[in-house]
Amino acid sequence: MLLTKYEEDMYNGEYGEAKAECMEILVSLGKIYDAERMIPITSAQVSGVSYKTIGDAGLDFVVDLGTKADVCLETMLNPAGVDIEYWKELGFSKEFADKQVDIINGYESLGVMSTCTCTPYLIGNTPMLNEHVAWSESSAVCYVNSVIGARTNREGGPSALLAAIVGRTPYYGNHIKENRLADMIFSVDYDFTNEAEVGALGYHVGQIVNDKIPYFMVNSKLSRNNLKTLGAALASSGAVSIYHVDNLTPEYKDAIVEGEEDTLEKVCIDNDVITESIESLSTTDSVPDLVCLGCPHASISEIQEVAKLLYNKKLKKDLWICTSKAIKSISKQCGYLDIIESAGGKIVSDTCMVVAPVEDLDYEVLGVNSAKAATYVPNLGDLDVVYDSVENLINMIVE
Ligand code: F3S
Repeated sequence: MLLTKYEEDMYNGEYGEAKAECMEILVSLGKIYDAERMIPITSAQVSGVSYKTIGDAGLDFVVDLGTKADVCLETMLNPAGVDIEYWKELGFSKEFADKQVDIINGYESLGVMSTCTCTPYLIGNTPMLNEHVAWSESSAVCYVNSVIGARTNREGGPSALLAAIVGRTPYYGNHIKENRLADMIFSVDYDFTNEAEVGALGYHVGQIVNDKIPYFMVNSKLSRNNLKTLGAALASSGAVSIYHVDNLTPEYKDAIVEGEEDTLEKVCIDNDVITESIESLSTTDSVPDLVCLGCPHASISEIQEVAKLLYNKKLKKDLWICTSKAIKSISKQCGYLDIIESAGGKIVSDTCMVVAPVEDLDYEVLGVNSAKAATYVPNLGDLDVVYDSVENLINMIVE
């Protein structure tokens, strides 16, 4: 691999042992993918935070690295295993929460911001078009590539962290413009009326394309919240890291080489496909005992929508809306938190229904409006899942 003088000096230990180790691993990674060089990055997003997923080995790795290295650019953390402030009220154990706090402290000593969110682009980590970044949460990767037009591969948590320490990542995959072209065209003849339908589209298409790049032609106007939902679904049933939407996403004009449209495989999606996909995402038709929204972490407009649905109502079952501390704080200022709490719901920050040990609580059926959550929740212990829109889920659990 070709390295600049600065990169070579880091590799050779001129800037300390930690940077040398990071460079060594990243160069090895680059060689695996035939990267010719490294590329400077402007931000990082690091997954591998929940004690449930990384355990004591991950905790030791982060704490050890924190004693000898620092990130050199804006780096935010993915959701952790508990709400750091309200873990007790939610029913999580002290033992788990203590371990989780140790992990977060380890990341903080590396200079990583303990934002604990999978939607860093909603709270200020918003790159610009064509900027190179190293992000690892799959739904955030899909959003930042597709909706923002910045460039990242689907990094692992450790590789994103190492990239944040040296400010470089191997130049391959999605960093190269030619690799961002569409592979298949999906012509969608469906009038979307809610986010569950959009998620069902993503879930279905992800299964077809796996790690290829889909190009969507849709009748309906998709909102940014819809695009967040779509990307998360594509990245959960498939390994999609970028998609394009005709007339909407920033690179759609360059995604199909002129004259080559006819060479791409085309798939038509109609009402039946979406309906079947929605049905396939539920494992029961029972009423949920916990409705869990905010996968990916909720935006302020999604929380506003829930507050409108709950105004002057009371819930008979539990409700969590997962989001970042920052969006929770804005929800409080806007009065939405009060409305949701008065109804009996909770805005849960720092964590989510997948990376928290929800399976250890007394719930049997989770209601979700996210295809990603619906994909993972049934694999967590004995939990069943009901997949539906936010409006329908709330209607199931109001008195
Ligand atoms: Fe985010 Fe958790 Fe869903 S990390 S994308 S809320 S599974």
